[in-house]
Amino acid sequence: MPAKGVAMKVLGVSGSPRVGGNTDAAVHHVLGALAQQGIETEFISLGQHPVKSCAACYACVEAKRCVLDDPNFDLLYSKFVESDGIILGSPVWFGSATPLMMSLIDRVGSVARRGENKLKHKVGASIAVARRAGKNFTFAQLNYFFLISEMIVPGASYWNVVSACQKGEFDRDAEGVKILDNLAENFGWLLKKIA
Ligand SMILES: Cc1cc2nc3c(=O)[nH]c(=O)nc-3n(C[C@H](O)[C@H](O)[C@H](O)COP(=O)(O)O)c2cc1C
Repeated sequence: MPAKGVAMKVLGVSGSPRVGGNTDAAVHHVLGALAQQGIETEFISLGQHPVKSCAACYACVEAKRCVLDDPNFDLLYSKFVESDGIILGSPVWFGSATPLMMSLIDRVGSVARRGENKLKHKVGASIAVARRAGKNFTFAQLNYFFLISEMIVPGASYWNVVSACQKGEFDRDAEGVKILDNLAENFGWLLKKIA
């Protein structure tokens, strides 16, 4: 973590292939609120930067990096490592996170754990977006990644879940938007405390 007074950076990743959809909007919402707190932010869409799934080759054990030929993953991994905080958002698909998001988590998590854990003590928060069911399960799935990575997860006034189905419906869930505002407040507060 940077010393006090040094700029902090938060990376937000959306696991939806629907560019400009509800998950993109939710992640952008939290990043916007963090930017208002003076925190540098960056957004990446897995829809625009899809990553391959883990090949279970275990080459990362020796190489300490992922050996798959995948420039999108290399870009994302470097951004995870350089960021102080990470926001992961996923739509709910058949009750769980999207394959895009799980591919990213599987590979970032595997590589980061080889040798010195590159994610330790970073701040992480997840957001699950769905028409109706599966939000809490997906929220938990993403949090498992943060917790096994020795990251610190701030809470909010509710679990970070948003109800939305068609593109553009994110703003209609007033309670969901309020939860994300509270999450951004707590996320920024924690980042500054531990900086
Ligand atoms: C393949 C697929 C599976 C889905 N499964 C669920 C589900 O299990 N529960 C649910 O409430 N919504 C489900 N949905 C609806 C999406 O979660 C919802 O449309 C969400 O707003 C999509 O976010 P996005 O706009 O960021 O892609 C599914 C959508 C797709 C395309």
